Amino acid sequence: MRNATQHTRQLLERFESRNITYFENDGNWPIVWQRAKGMHVWDAEGEKYVDLTSAFGVAATGHARPEVVRAGVRQMKTLMHAMGDVHPHALKAELCQELSRLTFERWTRRNGFMKYSGAKRWGKTIFCNSGSEAVEAALKTATAATGRKEVIAFRGAYHGLGYGALNPTHRDHFKTLFNKQITQFAHFVHFPETDDPSIRNSSESFSRLNPNTAPLAQVLEEVQTCFKNHDIGAILLEPVQARGGNHIPPPTFLVELRKLCNQHGALLVLDEIYTGFGRTGKWFACEHARTLPDLICIGKALTGGFPLSACIGRDDWMDKAWPISNGAAIHTSTFLGHPVGCAMALEQIRVIKEHQLIARAAKQGRLFKRLLEEVADQFQPYAEARAIGLMGALEFRTPKGETDGAKVFNLVCRMLDEGYIILPEGDHGHVMGFTPPLIISESTMRRAFKTLIRTGHAAE
Ligand SMILES: Cc1ncc(COP(=O)(O)O)c(C=O)c1O
Repeated sequence: MRNATQHTRQLLERFESRNITYFENDGNWPIVWQRAKGMHVWDAEGEKYVDLTSAFGVAATGHARPEVVRAGVRQMKTLMHAMGDVHPHALKAELCQELSRLTFERWTRRNGFMKYSGAKRWGKTIFCNSGSEAVEAALKTATAATGRKEVIAFRGAYHGLGYGALNPTHRDHFKTLFNKQITQFAHFVHFPETDDPSIRNSSESFSRLNPNTAPLAQVLEEVQTCFKNHDIGAILLEPVQARGGNHIPPPTFLVELRKLCNQHGALLVLDEIYTGFGRTGKWFACEHARTLPDLICIGKALTGGFPLSACIGRDDWMDKAWPISNGAAIHTSTFLGHPVGCAMALEQIRVIKEHQLIARAAKQGRLFKRLLEEVADQFQPYAEARAIGLMGALEFRTPKGETDGAKVFNLVCRMLDEGYIILPEGDHGHVMGFTPPLIISESTMRRAFKTLIRTGHAAE
């Protein structure tokens, strides 16, 4: 470990709360990020890396996209902070309108592409600062609109770690210490096994070995039972489970959930914090199933790097949930609708449109999936590739079928050494997660996966 990295490590070990940054004893993990641009990150020692994560899916248009940076800097010089729910600024209003256009207005256009034949609707937004808070705003909206307390959530789900979002988050690792304080309102059902026939695994899909997944028919029965036995106001889910290990359900899943929500007067709440803004090859993942949600949570790629998130709801549900303000907002925060975040988000959306990054993600996604499958082929029957758009994963298991987190961490470290940043995902860190910037080139993808095959064989 060289000096700059060592200094940062020493400071963090002494002054940052334990259990946040993980340090390997050999000093090779983590690297200290110094700057980033486009596909690349440079560390404190000047080493250059290709970022195959977009830093948790945030840098969708590339790190430090110049147009987005300029918009942020311009805004910082003009108005760096306004008064959330009191004295607003114009960009907050403009971003609300843009988000409405991108979601409910687009989705409910006459003869549009969603399965929807009702009146034209629009979206109303609550801005927040993190993904977890956007989920909590959605949970509040659902209970305020329906008068019902309970929620159906899914095994393997990740919705953030605030006390509200922690409840429908499934993994015990995040909850055990706090179980005494977390209110219990989520009922967990299995997440559906994938029906993707191209899943590369010589025996059968790893879904069968996953305690969090079950066949779709069983999942729908579990949902029905929950509706029967509990006071359910909402179903909350990620259309593709991200941190849980990139689980892609059959497209009919959302369609069936929509029907059940209609039948029971409950809200369909989609957490598109990871999947939004082109990640899966559509603006939002629900568009693959052409299914209209009632509320949608967004964050991460919304700004390309500023902590701004939002819950956007169908206008009628939002109005049912929230009374007109009498001067003191029931739900707000100091930095609500931050002007710098709004300026960056408006520019980020403009860049995605101008450069047709959604279509690009869909096109590049086809090659990305093929390349992931080629890697999985090399490690049969212990690896499985799953991908949709530019959201992909490689899951590794041992000869006994157990999750192989050790192998994944070893590979992720070796790839870091080779100059590639990849994230371990899944309940046991046994899944390599890939969410590269939507601007990734074909040659970069080919080089990355060739290196991964070589590195994987070297590690055997
Ligand atoms: C699907 C999903 N929802 C919510 C969150 C929480 O977002 P944040 O970490 O910004 O609170 C995440 C974060 O990874 C996520 O992937």
